[in-house]
Amino acid sequence: MTLSRHRHELYQQVRNGVGASPLVPVSLANGCRVHCKEEWRNPSGSHYDRVFVVLLEALEKQGRIVPAVTELVDATTGNAGAALARACQILGFPCKVFLPEDVPFARKQQIMGYGASLVETPERQYVKGAVRELQRYLVKARKERRRVFCLDHSRQSLAIEALSPIAVEIAKELDSQLPDFFVGVIGNGLTIKGIGRGLQSFAPSLRIIGVEPVRAPSTYEQKYPGRFQRERDEFPTFAHHGLLGAGAWGVRFPFIDPDDYDDITLVTQDNWLTGQGFLKDVGVASGRTSGACQWVAHQIAQTEDDLTFVHLCYDHASKYGTTSAKNSAHEEILV
Ligand SMILES: Cc1ncc(COP(=O)(O)O)c(C=O)c1O
Repeated sequence: MTLSRHRHELYQQVRNGVGASPLVPVSLANGCRVHCKEEWRNPSGSHYDRVFVVLLEALEKQGRIVPAVTELVDATTGNAGAALARACQILGFPCKVFLPEDVPFARKQQIMGYGASLVETPERQYVKGAVRELQRYLVKARKERRRVFCLDHSRQSLAIEALSPIAVEIAKELDSQLPDFFVGVIGNGLTIKGIGRGLQSFAPSLRIIGVEPVRAPSTYEQKYPGRFQRERDEFPTFAHHGLLGAGAWGVRFPFIDPDDYDDITLVTQDNWLTGQGFLKDVGVASGRTSGACQWVAHQIAQTEDDLTFVHLCYDHASKYGTTSAKNSAHEEILV
């Protein structure tokens, strides 16, 4: 189905300001450097703005979603929800976002600001709790024969395609100095597949380093069974942590493949705060996962000369700032 001119223009409006994010260089030890791709500059503040416009346009063309009729829903730790809510507001879809109660208030405020309704899911259950509540809602909606469509963005191969231009932009800009490493946190695997794997078609020897919180080393355990316990003399936990967007314990994602990673580094809160500090020094007020990737690049740079790294600045520090008294769990000092 082709879209009317008006619908086409609305999709153009959603696309305005999406993509072509700048790369910020940071000098590291031993003549190494890391380039940070500022995806937080997209309109709703993350790489997900690239994803939802592509998903929604494809679904509308297929006639599977109808503006003003179909309610669009998804589970998120905030960034995907904000991008979905923004797209829905411009395109006229009702939108409902399932989000853990204990994420920073700034995230809820942003999503509601785009006119979406919010379902707060049990605290300390992170993505697992949000997905469970969303599934319950979908069962109920089906029984009541309501027009509800779940985007399920973390399971769509089109989402990987939508992220792949980031790899092209990086390769074009770095041109003669293609990276040796892509460092990316492991959330649902989309950015590793779409960007890390994409970059390997330009730089075949590129190594991909995954980053997970030490409190939820799910992919690490799959890649290195038993290593966590051997090295730390304790069993891994799969529990509450503050690295929002990463380490979604208790949920299986089809695009997480331990073989995609040359290595996986576990990080503590101290590590990502240190990385955020490095980025602050070059004028980038980054979110936590960006800080974690930055810290990992600094660590590897200690071991070899003249390496080039690249990572995303997935989101901005302001997405973590505001806390209501009740919603403070993710602001705690965690190991
Ligand atoms: C802040 C942040 N960092 C990193 C990621 C990880 O991206 P992915 O799991 O899609 O590769 C996400 C995803 O939600 C995120 O919100």
